[in-house]
Amino acid sequence: MTVPYSHNIVLQMGNPIIRLGLFLSQILFSIITPFLLMPKIAKLSITRFFISFCFGRAYGNRYQSIIDSFQGRYGLAMAEGLAKAKEIAGDKISVVVDCGTGTGFVTKQAAKQFPHATFIAFDILYGMLTQARNNCKDIAADIFYVQADAFALPLANDSVDLLLVQNTMPCFAEFARVCRSGGMVIYVDTSAGWIAHLAKRLVEKYQLFETVMGERVDLGFYVLAQKTCNDKELGKPQ
Ligand SMILES: C[S@@+](CC[C@H](N)C(=O)[O-])C[C@H]1O[C@@H](n2cnc3c(N)ncnc32)[C@H](O)[C@@H]1O
Repeated sequence: MTVPYSHNIVLQMGNPIIRLGLFLSQILFSIITPFLLMPKIAKLSITRFFISFCFGRAYGNRYQSIIDSFQGRYGLAMAEGLAKAKEIAGDKISVVVDCGTGTGFVTKQAAKQFPHATFIAFDILYGMLTQARNNCKDIAADIFYVQADAFALPLANDSVDLLLVQNTMPCFAEFARVCRSGGMVIYVDTSAGWIAHLAKRLVEKYQLFETVMGERVDLGFYVLAQKTCNDKELGKPQ
């Protein structure tokens, strides 16, 4: 279910400091995210250092409290993307990658949608993988935790059915390499809903994926990109 735009800023619950924090994160990530979607800028070592420092080293131990500050809304955009992927591919998704897993929030969320899939959770920081492993202890699905850079995933070409990337480096060229024919990427930003259309257009501009769709959801957005489906094993978007 998509939450109406009018709910974006005027939160019904929560104290004013949390509301202000969420509002400021909307502004900050609406500025940062378009740059991360430009491969020439994203690839720079200074950008990558900045992102892994800010999103990992500096906030790593506090990341769960950042998620909590969203008061249940952190997973809304990814939930929409996952529902769309399920609608497209049904239960034919067997290998799911969570790139930049952090606390494992997305892996946990996706395991509910695709309980029979095998999950590979990547993060550049070992400490975050430890958090993810602890948080996903109660999940029955097979999950492998691997320390790796999203720009150089230790995966074969055409090996992934669904790749999830939320609030971290969107390396679409690398994602297109590892996704199989008909495979999908769901890219989510939980704060930058204002730039949903721009993000979709930037992903379309790469021409790495046959189909690109997406929308603003609550404070954030999702973009779902699907590779050309030659073998018709995975479904086509409606
Ligand atoms: C803001 S957290 C988001 C975590 C999770 N995706 C979520 O939505 O809750 C970003 C995570 O991406 C990781 N990260 C940053 N740059 C990365 C890179 N180049 N490759 C892999 N992981 C990276 C950070 O270490 C951090 O754990």
